[in-house]
Amino acid sequence: MNFKGRDIVSIKDLTEDEILHILDVADGMIPIARGEEKSDLLKGKIMASLFFEPSTRTRLSFEAAMKRLGGNVIGFAQPGATSMQKGESLADTIRTAESYCDVIVMRHPQEGSARMAAEFASVPIINGGDGAGHHPTQCLLDLFTIREEKGSIGENKVALVGDLKYGRTVHSLAYALALFKAEMVFIAPEQLQMPPEVVEECKAMGAPISFETDLEEATGDVDVIYVTRIQKERFPDPEEYNKVVGIYEINSRILGKGKKDVIVMHPLPRVYEIAPEVDGTKYAAYFRQAFNGVPVRMALLSLVLGGIE
Ligand code: NCD
Repeated sequence: MNFKGRDIVSIKDLTEDEILHILDVADGMIPIARGEEKSDLLKGKIMASLFFEPSTRTRLSFEAAMKRLGGNVIGFAQPGATSMQKGESLADTIRTAESYCDVIVMRHPQEGSARMAAEFASVPIINGGDGAGHHPTQCLLDLFTIREEKGSIGENKVALVGDLKYGRTVHSLAYALALFKAEMVFIAPEQLQMPPEVVEECKAMGAPISFETDLEEATGDVDVIYVTRIQKERFPDPEEYNKVVGIYEINSRILGKGKKDVIVMHPLPRVYEIAPEVDGTKYAAYFRQAFNGVPVRMALLSLVLGGIE
């Protein structure tokens, strides 16, 4: 298995064995991620973090991951403060950034932008989210969380809930869960259901999939409820957003009707999708999930930078 120098643009770039290897490496990173052990595995390496879209967890956990491993970070979180404001192209921005660093993590509103950047750059490009396209590192930490919380990935029935049309995390996760042969139920209002091409791909991989609109009915027998935010910024018409905002809310009443050991996950940020009363319950896995971004991104950075095999 060789990760050194590779781009991580889509979860589809990785095989099942490669994904499991990343998760195993991430397991070993936990004490360093918590600050309990020190490491200088990536000493002397520089990660450029280029965020053209808002981010809290992805950017901060990538930066924390790099620093916990002794590496350095350059970059921006506000593209308005860069020469793109003067009209510089994404291609030129990438060509410049790559001459200052060993790996680039980027987030951009345009689908396909990370793939394009990977064509220009000779350093590895890690996609931190490209529009409504993909979010492979979120997907890896989601799989890590499912495995850690439930003991396996494939032996679960997973409900993907909310904005399945524009949500990039669920596009990546549906594909990965299909790879692990997990059963899935897609719960969304009709107009926000999973794109047909994602459904077709998952079905072709032999994944059992069902579709629902009613949250309460559909979550009674699932092991994992993965909730997503309605992606307001990707709606062409704000009126359409107003029709669906707040449509699903996970609360104690709904969870009380489900399996005793069901867990609730969310890539965050949440807006209206999970009632705060759930936060202190055994069901809530979403803050542990957010922490898991650090060991998983440490594993990925170490592998693509050749700090580890
Ligand atoms: C998600 C994203 O940016 O796609 N957040 C994240 O990376 N944890 C989810 C979202 O914005 O709704």
